[in-house]
Amino acid sequence: MENNLLFIANWKMNNAYADLVSYFNIFLPLYNQTKPVNDVVFLPPFTLLYLIKEILKATNLKWGAQNFYYESKGAFTGEISALMIKDTGSTYVLIGHSERRKYFKENSQIIANKLHKAFSENIIPIVCVGETLEERKSGKTFSVLANQMKPILKTYQNFINKEIVVAYEPVWAIGTGVNATIEEIKESHSFILSLFLKQSWVNDSNIKIVYGGSIDSKITPAIVSLDVVNGCLVGGASLKPEEFIKIVNTIRS
Ligand code: PGA
Repeated sequence: MENNLLFIANWKMNNAYADLVSYFNIFLPLYNQTKPVNDVVFLPPFTLLYLIKEILKATNLKWGAQNFYYESKGAFTGEISALMIKDTGSTYVLIGHSERRKYFKENSQIIANKLHKAFSENIIPIVCVGETLEERKSGKTFSVLANQMKPILKTYQNFINKEIVVAYEPVWAIGTGVNATIEEIKESHSFILSLFLKQSWVNDSNIKIVYGGSIDSKITPAIVSLDVVNGCLVGGASLKPEEFIKIVNTIRS
């Protein structure tokens, strides 16, 4: 797999206008002092997308949305469409995060519909998969991942020339301070990659598999030393610019 890595900041429901301005007042000077080799994507709340566009448009940093609705337009009060996201200069969108699966009841069909729409509108999807602690403890990790990957692969089959990012995020590692072990990450990433490679139509240069769950700058080098890992999806640690800059400057050893 490629040597440059992809680091994605998932800010979740954090940060307002003034926070974003002060964040980049710290982050950008630090970033500009480095010779960046990795790709970096920020996923702020919807309300900050136009502002982040203004702040980042002259940089090679990217941004995107944490969610959207798959219908093109119409009577869907409270929803945001793919075109609205594109208007903000977003190039990525997160789909099927476990918090959306859990709190907003997003199921495989909804996730497949969103994936289809993202590909159709040329937005790069970052689609999340991962098992709960109970599922891992009862030895169901691979079957859960296979089930979650089924609608993803079925949809992707129609868009094989497009880029896709799959984020492996064990639910028990998200926001808990507990990382999956290097061995667990290697196994799950290899398994997800094998599901792609089993498809005769797959072009693996369009596929990235990133790890998420309690990432910090100390653990990142070991995780990205695995060649089945293409980067990380970072929640809590991405809210601290001094910490996130260390993460995004990690070089694969
Ligand atoms: P975390 O979140 O880094 O705070 O565990 C990761 C995520 O949910 O994307």
